Amino acid sequence: MKTFTSSSPKQTFILGKRLAKIVKRKWMKEKGNIVILVIGELGVGKTLFTHGFFTGLGYRETDFCGSPSFIIVNEYKGCIPFYHIDLYRLKTVEGIEEIFEKEGVIVCEWGEKIENVITFLWKIEFTILNNKRIIKIT
Ligand SMILES: Nc1ncnc2c1ncn2[C@@H]1O[C@H](COP(=O)(O)OP(=O)(O)OP(=O)(O)O)[C@@H](O)[C@H]1O
Ligand SMILES: [Mg+2]
Repeated sequence: MKTFTSSSPKQTFILGKRLAKIVKRKWMKEKGNIVILVIGELGVGKTLFTHGFFTGLGYRETDFCGSPSFIIVNEYKGCIPFYHIDLYRLKTVEGIEEIFEKEGVIVCEWGEKIENVITFLWKIEFTILNNKRIIKIT
């Protein structure tokens, strides 16, 4: 397990970007499917982290479409296919497992809803402590 502390939105963004560079190298070598689960209460910084992650994969910051709220997934077709999933509104994860098997990199907010059903590379858990974000990666 690795733990980071973020004292600002900027730091959370940069952490996402740094971690994406590791994932990018792995994906370029092995291809296939890489899933990252992002977990934490409302407003903790999951989408901000995902935005930073998006830029670390090589996408342009301004091409980010925000969190998919009425559809479940935002798909980006750059040189590394990227899927941003948000399970917040979903009552049951039955039948959506196949999105998690796509070729490319997948980041999923509210990932705890699916963690027992799919395989993933990292689980990234955010908690708030004294105005800071504690970010645990397992
Ligand atoms: N250290 C920090 N890291 C991340 N966000 C922070 C931090 N400090 C303050 N914030 C603020 O918290 C908010 C995080 O919003 P964001 O949409 O990323 O959260 P979220 O976890 O995706 O929320 P939701 O559960 O609604 O999807 C932003 O407004 C951001 O500016
Ligand atoms: Mg969000």
